[in-house]
Amino acid sequence: MDQVKDTSVQDLTTQNTLALKSCAHDYHEFTDRDALSTYLYTLSSELPLLVLGGGSNLILPEVVTTPVIKLGFDQLEFAEEGDAVIVRAGAAIEWDKLVAEAVARGYAGIENLSLIPGSVGAAPVQNIGAYGVELVDVLLSIEAYDRKEKQYVTLTPDQCDFAYRDSIFKQKVGRYIITEVVLELSTQLDLKLHYGELKALLNDPAKAGARNNELSLQAVRDHVIKVRRAKLPDPDTIPNVGSFFKNPIVPESVYKSLKEQYPKLVAYPQENKEFKLAAGWLIDQAGWKGRVMGNAAVHDRQALVLVNKGKATQQDILALASAIQDDIQRIYGIALEIEPVSPL
Ligand code: EPU
Repeated sequence: MDQVKDTSVQDLTTQNTLALKSCAHDYHEFTDRDALSTYLYTLSSELPLLVLGGGSNLILPEVVTTPVIKLGFDQLEFAEEGDAVIVRAGAAIEWDKLVAEAVARGYAGIENLSLIPGSVGAAPVQNIGAYGVELVDVLLSIEAYDRKEKQYVTLTPDQCDFAYRDSIFKQKVGRYIITEVVLELSTQLDLKLHYGELKALLNDPAKAGARNNELSLQAVRDHVIKVRRAKLPDPDTIPNVGSFFKNPIVPESVYKSLKEQYPKLVAYPQENKEFKLAAGWLIDQAGWKGRVMGNAAVHDRQALVLVNKGKATQQDILALASAIQDDIQRIYGIALEIEPVSPL
């Protein structure tokens, strides 16, 4: 099928999980690779454009002035090759539907990434991660249209420059339009349960939801879902984009001096003697948890999440974010970086 929709004005209010009132004036939907490349070929590669996935990492303005494209690619294939399972998933598939399907088929590797909102195509952009697993751990390759080279390309993980919540897709915004993600899962049960809240599964499987004390992919998925639901607001009832700030990574010297001042500081050692600080802890200790500013607020169970109280605009959300950033800089000398993107 060709391009299916090409309208001048499209309401995006229900297409972003912060539920910000927003519309696009130049909106295009594609379900066909050729139609997508024909459209992109004629556009200057320098022209900013917004690819709309699940809308779970966006702070939209009232009017998006750049072209907006929405992809309908929803192919999903699993192929067993020995113990490995090669998964080819179209960009439009909801990430958690892919996780549910993999778990139901007994394929291991992404069960810790259960219930993360957003689409498969958006997952590599910020290298989604949770409970000790990141997308890059299972990624084989990415199919994308390269607007600079004006052709479809296959990118290996090395070419994507993955880091914590970072990738080439964030650094070179707009260059690549991801159409398909290829993962390698496993038929072998190789559970990753070292992250704090998952250790409960090892210590007391039955209490943590495993059936007959048996750990399974489904038990891990169920537990992750339970933990996430306990802290993170459901965007359908309380609009939000998950973690609003990245956890800052600081040199050992900064960590040590903060730890002296704040013995309860939560931090995780990284490679190169760096430390990742729990931004939620910093914001919480600074007294922001549950605070309301106009139409925006800090979630009352996870200080790293900002929520729309109902009528917030992009400015309301960014004003609250900026007040928090100022405070964290003043108190701890730490610069917090906003994770979701604010398109033009
Ligand atoms: N904490 C507080 N107060 C708060 C929030 C957190 O004291 O209000 C403390 C917690 O007690 C804990 C520490 O801070 O000791 C870390 O909190 P948590 O385990 O909830 O994880 P996080 O670092 O806040 C990150 C990811 C989440 C991911 C979880 C689990 C980022 C920016 N966020 O959050 O990702 O689910 O770890 O792996 O890295 C997302 O990106 O939207 C997201 C939810």
